[in-house]
Amino acid sequence: MESLGTLERTLYCGQVGEQHVGQRVTVMGWADRRRDLGNLIFLDLRDREGIVQVVVNPSRPEALEKAKQVRAEYVLAVTGTVVERAADTVNPELPTGTVEVLTEQLHVLNAAQTPPFPVNEHTDAAEDTRLRYRFLDLRRARLQRNLRLRHQIALEVRKQLDEDGFLEIETPFLTRSTPEGARDFLVPSRLHAGHFYALPQSPQIFKQILMISGFDRYFQIVRCFRDEDLRADRQPEFTQVDIEMCFPQPEHVFDLVERTLVRVFRLAGVEAPRPFPRLGFDEAVSRFGTDRPDTRFGLELVDVGEVFRETPFQIFAKILAEGGAIKGIAVPGAASYSRKQLDLLTEFVQGQGAQALSWIRRGPEGWKSSLPKVVPETQLEAAAEAAALAEGDLLAMVAGKPAVVHSALAALRLHLGRELSLIPDSHAFLWVQDFPLMEWDEQEQRYYSLHHPFTSPKDEDVARLEDDPAGVRAKAYDVVWNGLEIGGGSIRIHRPELQQRVFQVLGIGPEEAEAKFGFLLEALRYGAPPHGGIALGLDRIAMLLAGESSIRDVMAFPKTARGLDLMCGAPSPVDDRQLRELHIKVTD
Ligand code: AMO
Repeated sequence: MESLGTLERTLYCGQVGEQHVGQRVTVMGWADRRRDLGNLIFLDLRDREGIVQVVVNPSRPEALEKAKQVRAEYVLAVTGTVVERAADTVNPELPTGTVEVLTEQLHVLNAAQTPPFPVNEHTDAAEDTRLRYRFLDLRRARLQRNLRLRHQIALEVRKQLDEDGFLEIETPFLTRSTPEGARDFLVPSRLHAGHFYALPQSPQIFKQILMISGFDRYFQIVRCFRDEDLRADRQPEFTQVDIEMCFPQPEHVFDLVERTLVRVFRLAGVEAPRPFPRLGFDEAVSRFGTDRPDTRFGLELVDVGEVFRETPFQIFAKILAEGGAIKGIAVPGAASYSRKQLDLLTEFVQGQGAQALSWIRRGPEGWKSSLPKVVPETQLEAAAEAAALAEGDLLAMVAGKPAVVHSALAALRLHLGRELSLIPDSHAFLWVQDFPLMEWDEQEQRYYSLHHPFTSPKDEDVARLEDDPAGVRAKAYDVVWNGLEIGGGSIRIHRPELQQRVFQVLGIGPEEAEAKFGFLLEALRYGAPPHGGIALGLDRIAMLLAGESSIRDVMAFPKTARGLDLMCGAPSPVDDRQLRELHIKVTD
């Protein structure tokens, strides 16, 4: 092993090119591959910019001797001359493939154990292994590229927001809990026995207070913490581009976010067309079954409830009488589906909570359907007509409570879109607006905020707040990309009385409100300006731009779906002394 001494790198491996032919260079990096032809050794040397081939020949016996010892992931420094490769040895796969470095001196700066998986793009190691050895996984070009892209995204965002006069201001991580719908991560206080800080689910209240303090335009690229069930697009700690401004109209937020996203998406060569289309919440749910539709393809939901209003089929009649819905999707080419294929569709919607899947199609011998014979053909025909069912199509229907029908069909729509290859490789941006302010939670028997309790109701709906909470619409908006929610925000409540009324309807009485949000209510009493903003999910945006399907692949040190950091072993037990200091007793 040798020391770096005074040796200096002259350029990155990946930067060596024809313009350097004849020059003496020093490159440093990791041994990616070694081919030993006895008297001639080829090493692929890798650094963050790429790979260059290094040749060691017998004219440098000392270097050749050392090169023989080199194994994968050894750290090397090579000084030599850049030479052109013979035409038949050019490697078109490598950007540096027309040249190589003819070694004069080779320094082995460090050895490496045999890695548990090859550090290259072809690795098929299980994700858990990759996460356990994240330091090696991160050496792979794909992750290097993703994290660089993430840096560039953050940089573009900062530039745009700075140009627009936004100030980046930090808010605390050790704070009190702010409800955003998830559980809090708590941090026990040593100095105050039995008291806990909460890690912020978002800086929501702090950014509102910064507006009350007159900063006018705030942003922060900030870590948020939510103890919720994880999915491919969710992590317990993730990063938001958090934005707030004084005196905004929703249009100002839309304009700023669109300009920022257009700039960011250009990094991936995507030109996002502006303005982004807008869709009301009700329309989104009724046409796509979800408030974050992927609008790149059709397969829209059709309401066939009216058709069956007078049906002799008791199940449908009862569902409709109880305020339920019957909706369907016209599936192109599915009239010829086999029984097995239809069973699979049924199983799919049942997996999404639906009771059953009903279908209608026109075969060569007339109408066919899964509905009982009592349903007259005129109803089948009317349903098919409502769905504009073409020859060869199948109308797949779900009946039940509207929420169940919508979520099952939304999932079926995506499933079919993928299955039938109907989703183009394009980019559909969308604003969804006019959300309801609250929804009734049947289980908890109370209303809860769709966004968060600081969201302003629409002016024209404020009067109905107490009498018809579910009918009140919010000044809230989400930005959706190809069916993924990449941001959400709202105009906030800026008057303490209205805030208190909303708390009340949400079942947060004056005492609880004072205890939990007293500081916000107090701040609102000292001249709070109208304000509003949004937060964008930076990880999700990076995931989309990088073409990845999991946000873990655009985060340096993500957690598994079970919330574990497999590399450092978090969470972990702590010793008794630490627990005592924190006044904590673990009971099981
Ligand atoms: P919201 O909860 O909608 O709004 O979050 C904003 C955006 O953050 C991203 N996001 C996540 N990304 C990864 N993992 C998660 N667990 C996760 N949760 C959310 C999403 C989402 O659109 N305070 C409000 C914003 C505001 O009103 O201004 C808020 O946090 O892309």
